[in-house]
Parts: sequence; structure tokens; C-alpha cells
Amino acid sequence: MDIRRSLSNHAGPRRSPHEVLRRLAERITPDTTADGPVRELEARVAGLLGKRKALFFPSGTMAQQTALRVHAERRGRVAFAGHPQSHLHVWENQGYSVVHGLRFHPVGDRNALLTLRDLQTVKEPLAAVVFELPQRDIGGQLPSLRDLAEQTSWVRSAGAAAHCDGARIWEAQTGYEATLPELAGLFDTVYVSLYKGLEGVRGAVLAGDAETIEHAEVRRRRLGGAIVDAWPLAAIALMGLDENLERMPEFKAHAQALAKAINDDGFAHTTPRTPQTPLFHVHLPMSQQEAQRAAENLAEETGIKLFLYARSNPDPGRCSVEVSVGIPALEFTPREVAELIRGLPSRV
Ligand SMILES: Cc1ncc(COP(=O)(O)O)c(C=O)c1O
Repeated sequence: MDIRRSLSNHAGPRRSPHEVLRRLAERITPDTTADGPVRELEARVAGLLGKRKALFFPSGTMAQQTALRVHAERRGRVAFAGHPQSHLHVWENQGYSVVHGLRFHPVGDRNALLTLRDLQTVKEPLAAVVFELPQRDIGGQLPSLRDLAEQTSWVRSAGAAAHCDGARIWEAQTGYEATLPELAGLFDTVYVSLYKGLEGVRGAVLAGDAETIEHAEVRRRRLGGAIVDAWPLAAIALMGLDENLERMPEFKAHAQALAKAINDDGFAHTTPRTPQTPLFHVHLPMSQQEAQRAAENLAEETGIKLFLYARSNPDPGRCSVEVSVGIPALEFTPREVAELIRGLPSRV
């Protein structure tokens, strides 16, 4: 299927191998060495987050499991806690347990943000608590800075590490009156993704203090993740840091304009009603299968990809979809998006 425009930052012509290669060709010069872009990326991310050291990983899945394993080994504890809809719990086939022998405590309500009281219900000593910013599966909601500071300081005073799933920390920062180093400073370790808001191909970076990251480097080698010459992944991510980072507030403003048009139209509604970051969810009065079919037909007929996939809802007559605003979504006016969404039932 020929996708010509995409509302999702994860799809569309800018992600095609040909376009990525074209952009990469601008960055790679005769002086580029095989390990240069990775080293540069690690230094850039450490600097941006105000951390001592950072380490490239082929995936966020490997980076986060490694971070948790290191926190566990250094504390002699095997349990960690996080939101019930944490990526580690929902999407990684229990890798933390099968590969690393760790135990996960899902805490709090799956449709709400974590609270300090939720964390305090866990009675087993924890190696770490994972904080996902923003909490993707509940529409990209963000805890207040005050709540986050209170929770992370409680976690640390209990002898556990505060780990940030910052796959979208660049996007999350737009929702705070705090700089990236101030935000990252609340956590012992922060993982960032290279292919979400930064529009890279794949890859992740884990940042923290020197001792933790050196320990993580040993684990990374054992897992087969020590690919220091991953220059194409690093180079395209560096372009994302150069070009996309300063545009995050613009992406958030456009997300808010899209959400307002959708809510004003009234056929669907968004969570949050006013997005706190460039990511939000749209709740549709259609079943998951209907929405999926309508989106496929829309793509077939117009070349427009409206969303990646529809998420089911306890009410089988409803579903939700994610919108992540980046450069591709700027091509869509708020009115056009509201009309495309309203028109979905006619495409089933
Ligand atoms: C919040 C969050 N954490 C972790 C990951 C894992 O990243 P990766 O796909 O690089 O393994 C993802 C990927 O979608 C994510 O959305």
C-alpha cells in the first residue's frame, strides 16, 4: 500500500528506507568513522540529560531490562514496580523475568497515573521503580512535577532506584516547567528512544552515573548488544536531535489544536482533553475491528494513514487510537483531521 501522508509519527514517507538513506547521505562524510556517530550520540544524550555517562543499545527493551538488572544486582533485590500498562509488562513477553530473574509488581490503577500511595502498598523491598513519561497507554498523561519529585524521592529513600522510561522524554519535557537535566535529575537512570520523536530507525540510549552505566556495558555485551559501529542508527538519531528537539513545543501546540478540533466536532473525544505532550489518544464510538477496517480502506483509497492500530475497550462498541504529532502530522489541518475521524464509519 502506498502511504503518502501519515498522522502517526511512526509511519509515512519520511520513514521509508529510501528517504532515510537520502537524509543519512547528508550527514555521513568521508571523515565519519564506524564508531564516531555512536560515541557522539552517547555524549550528546548524556549532556542533554545532565548525566555523567550514556550508552547506546539496539533497543529500548534491552536497555531497560539491563538497567533493572543492574539496579537489582547492586541492591541484592529482585523486585521492581511500575504502572500496570508499563511497556516492560505489556510488550516484552516477561523478558525481565525469563532473561533476568526479576519480579514485577504492577501498582495502581491501569487507567490512571501512579500515586505515592500506590507505591506504598508494595511491601517487598524493591530494586527499582519505573516511571514512564508520558504514560503512553493512558493517552500520554503526565504526573505533575511535584508528584514526580515526591514519588522519586520516596523511592530513593526506600533504597530503590528511580528509573525513567523516557522513550518520549523529549516530548514529555514540553509538559513541564523544568529543563531536561532537571527532569532527568529526578531519576538514577533514564532510557531514551531514538526512533519516536527523534524519527530515527531504531535504537536507544541509557544514561546515568558512571558506575551504573559501566556495569550496564558488561551486561549489554553479554546480551549481544555491544554493536559500537551502529553508525546508521546513531547518525540518523543525531539528525533527530539537531532538527526535531527544538520543535517539540510546536508539535505539542499542533497536538492541542488537533485535539480541540476533534473535541469540538463531537463525534469522538480525546484523552487528555488538552494534550500535555505531542501524544494523545482519540476515543471512537466504533468497535476496534470497524475502526481498523475503516483506516485500512482510507489508506487504500487516499494514501492517508490515520493511525497505527486501534486499541480495544471494555465497551466492545468503542475503541481508541493514538496520535503522535511530529513533522508528518504538521501537514494535516485540525479541521481535516476532525473530518477524517468523523468520516470513519462511512469507510467500514
Ligand atoms: C514507552 C516505551 N518504552 C519502551 C519501549 C521499547 O522500545 P524498543 O522498541 O526500542 O524496544 C517502547 C517502544 O514502543 C515504548 O513505547
